[in-house]
Amino acid sequence: MAVLVTGGAGFIGSHTCVELQQAGYDVVVLDNLSNASEVSLQRVEAITGKKVKFYKGDIADRKILQEIFDNEKIDSCIHFAGLKAVGESVEKPWEYYNNNISGTLTLVDVMRKNNCKNIIFSSSSTVYGTPKEVPVTEQTPKGTCTNPYGWTKWMLEQILSDLYVADNEWNVILLRYFNPIGAHKSGTMGEDPSGIPNNLMPYITQVAVGKRPELGVFGDDYDTPDGTGVRDYIHVVDLADGHVKALKKIEENAGLKIYNLGTGTGYSVLDIVKNFEEATGVKIPYSIKPRRAGDIAKNYADASLAKEELGWVAKNGIKEMCEDSWRWQKNNPNGYEG
Ligand code: NAD
Ligand code: UFG
Repeated sequence: MAVLVTGGAGFIGSHTCVELQQAGYDVVVLDNLSNASEVSLQRVEAITGKKVKFYKGDIADRKILQEIFDNEKIDSCIHFAGLKAVGESVEKPWEYYNNNISGTLTLVDVMRKNNCKNIIFSSSSTVYGTPKEVPVTEQTPKGTCTNPYGWTKWMLEQILSDLYVADNEWNVILLRYFNPIGAHKSGTMGEDPSGIPNNLMPYITQVAVGKRPELGVFGDDYDTPDGTGVRDYIHVVDLADGHVKALKKIEENAGLKIYNLGTGTGYSVLDIVKNFEEATGVKIPYSIKPRRAGDIAKNYADASLAKEELGWVAKNGIKEMCEDSWRWQKNNPNGYEG
């Protein structure tokens, strides 16, 4: 039996393909390559020595989805495919709601028509909005999102939960990721954002490699120890491993489950700069800029439920996250394109 990995050529998806294959699963990827390169899948194959079955296409395309179910023996789906740029989602709300929500509705419809009712969904800590207290547990109420991207995660959690309520044959696991960074230890796979990176770590590594002159730190007047934003950074390989553990849970008929995937430790922007400099020996010039619209002061996870129920904990610390992000960027200054 095989796992359908939508968005499998992307950052988290490609790292998850490695962990899945190494755990013995057959992997079928559906990706429209709107934000990824097929080269990532060649790198997966080089690491695991196993073939990734790749379909280039869209989750909103019933025809290709049915072709996959006709050709492959799919018994579960890990659903990463989606648009994820927060700022862009404010400019293009229709595109985000259409791609992420309509796309997912089509995907799950074709799944159920083919009697495949096991899904793991990429959700986000963004669904907590501005939490009153940190760390957040899965019991912390969902909040108000500040952008359409966040709302797509919020709404898709609701939609997938309602599917389960109406039909208990579904197994639905919602994984709320905190801030994935790092890269595969081999230095051959990592995050490859197009254009100017929105996220902190890819921006730092591009400064380190000389592509950008300095880092802008978005605000130093938050209610945090050094005034800069605090987040729960998690190594992408640990995150990928969380999906393998979630798949095992699905095999035990999980029903509907929600798990935070984070380390439980919060680091500020300046902590990350300092740790990156210590881990790599590369200096990161920075200057303080105004706050970025929609940002919150701090968020980090209570990840004890995933430990208890999935037997999952994040193994890599901040040093490994910085080292591995840097190894990838240094070896591949232009990402997968050369
Ligand atoms: P990514 O952009 O690298 O991967 C997403 C992949 O989905 C890309 O390869 C893209 O080409 C593909 N895709 C997009 N729309 C598609 C469609 N309609 N049909 C087929 N393929 C499509 O992003 P990522 O960082 O790997 O994130 C994976 C998932 O995790 C996303 O759903 C994202 O929203 C979620 N997530 C990411 C983060 C993060 O900080 N990276 C945090 C929380 C949640
Ligand atoms: N930051 C800077 N300068 C930059 C980029 C970021 O100071 O150039 C700061 C931000 O202000 C924030 C922290 O670094 O305090 C982290 O910012 P990111 O953009 O890396 O991450 P966010 O926490 O804002 O959001 C990310 C994803 C969301 C996802 C969320 C939780 O972009 O989609 O993590 O998983 F929902």
